[in-house]
Amino acid sequence: MGNSLTEVFSEVMGKAFEAAGYDAGLGVVRVSDRPDLCEFQCNGAMAGAKKYHKAPFMIADEVTKKLPEVGADRYFTAEMVRPGFINMNASPAYIAEMLKEIAEDPYLSIPQEESPEEIVIDYGGPNVAKPLHVGHLRSAVIGESIKRLCRAVGNHVRGDVHLGDWGLQMGLIITELKHTQPDLPYFDDCATEFPEEPPFTIGELEKIYPTASAKSKEDPDYYAEALEATHLLQEGKPGYHALWEQILKVSVADLKKNYARLNVNFDLWKAESDVQPYIPDMIEKMKADGVAHIDDGALVIDVDEPTDKKMIPPCIILKSDGSSLYATTDIATILEREKLFHPDRIIYVVDKRQSMHFVQVFRAVKKAGIGDNKTDLVHVGFGTMNGKDGKPFKTREGGVMRLQVLLDDIEAEMEKKISENRNVRTEDAEKTAKQVALSAVKYGDLSNQASKDYIFDIDKFTSFEGNTGPYILYTIVRIKSILEKADISVTDRDLLPAAGEEEKALMLDLTEFGSTIFDAYEDLAPHRICAYIYRTCNDFNRFYHETRILAEEKEAKKKSYLALLQLTDRILEKSIDILGFSAPDHM
Ligand code: ARG
Repeated sequence: MGNSLTEVFSEVMGKAFEAAGYDAGLGVVRVSDRPDLCEFQCNGAMAGAKKYHKAPFMIADEVTKKLPEVGADRYFTAEMVRPGFINMNASPAYIAEMLKEIAEDPYLSIPQEESPEEIVIDYGGPNVAKPLHVGHLRSAVIGESIKRLCRAVGNHVRGDVHLGDWGLQMGLIITELKHTQPDLPYFDDCATEFPEEPPFTIGELEKIYPTASAKSKEDPDYYAEALEATHLLQEGKPGYHALWEQILKVSVADLKKNYARLNVNFDLWKAESDVQPYIPDMIEKMKADGVAHIDDGALVIDVDEPTDKKMIPPCIILKSDGSSLYATTDIATILEREKLFHPDRIIYVVDKRQSMHFVQVFRAVKKAGIGDNKTDLVHVGFGTMNGKDGKPFKTREGGVMRLQVLLDDIEAEMEKKISENRNVRTEDAEKTAKQVALSAVKYGDLSNQASKDYIFDIDKFTSFEGNTGPYILYTIVRIKSILEKADISVTDRDLLPAAGEEEKALMLDLTEFGSTIFDAYEDLAPHRICAYIYRTCNDFNRFYHETRILAEEKEAKKKSYLALLQLTDRILEKSIDILGFSAPDHM
């Protein structure tokens, strides 16, 4: 049988259509768009009217009369409504049956891909030696969730941080160090050995870059020096290379710490520099195959197509001075990924303002025949995180907001709210505040459709009420604490058919878990999971307020409630795990 109630019901309804002499395909059942009237509906008779030249209510009438014959009573009750709709309600006994199956399924009813894909997710995309700022938050949060979502349905997925470690920023840092500490062995052209210890801490390193960047904007000589340093580094000058390694080492250690704080984990810590060795051969081949040509001194690939509605400029592979660009590195990275992983799909979770870049890169890759065009290249472009003024999120002073600062602020706010609200055991308070703060940040982001801009509103995101991370965690903690207080143990087999309306609504939500996750996966849309969790939490809370769970006198009924709570908890915790956060035991 199918995976969700609508699938099962469609199959049964299809049989009834067939038994009445109509096409079984007309029996499609969906969740009702009039929940005040019924839970599910089938509009097949309306659709069939044209085909069979018959009034829809006659078809619907014949079909509903066939329902007992095909054993529909076990699944639902149905009623014909003019002009020819079939309104349906699920059988509470069958819902309970399905929930038992879900509870016993190791995947909790999440459909598993029959032929799992090999997927690489390119997300995070930080630049070394520059502190993470809020612009990096969305890529990390959305990318991590998409990675977990792809895994949840059985694919083999690798997340790659794809460090920016090869551009001008490296030359800038080298130049600044050369000015301030010219005696370092890295600047001695005769030196062949270099110290183990880095010549700076992360704190110092993070100050060097902005200083250098500012100077280069004011002083053309300084800028030229930085360009030259970048060039020498890329040519492999030993001292610069050794210094670059130190920058990378110090910076990556710090990045790992920051991503761990976000509960974001990369399988691969590859960098732009890793693929530079591929570039010369790649370019030779592009030239030899006639894919790339010289235009105004630069080497380019034309990527426009006749059907384009707007102009797509050529993809520049080499500038006229012979240096490679961002696109060159991205193309070479695809080449390397093909070689190492043979991916079926590469998903880029990058700001949507880079969408032209990806159109150019993907088309250039296709033209060059890299990976025999078998790999699906996808850009999931996300919108901007704005402040309450509707402009890109900034510090109060108008500067770029560091991610650390933002997380500190939201943790402090959460700690305040938690201690105001309840009497937490103090040794847990800090840890709990961190966990809840992370849910506030991640849920606040993920509950919006990724491609849209959204407003980062600390007050709203940290609230225990409304569609927020803290509300979701609060609900989960409530369920866990009831289960903890319960003095009897229960199993999934204890589930009984719902007696009340609230209980049934909650049960119906749980039957939709697997198909919701799969739909979210197909659209790479974590916000769908958020909408599902929010609805389920609301339905749980309504049930909770209407029901005396622990005080229930009938043992069987109490056990059934507890079994329902157990499954609700498992489904909610699995859902937030896919979103990339977790719930505390108490709060
Ligand atoms: N480092 C880049 C930036 O800060 C983002 C990299 C995105 N990933 C990619 N494969 N281009 O803009």
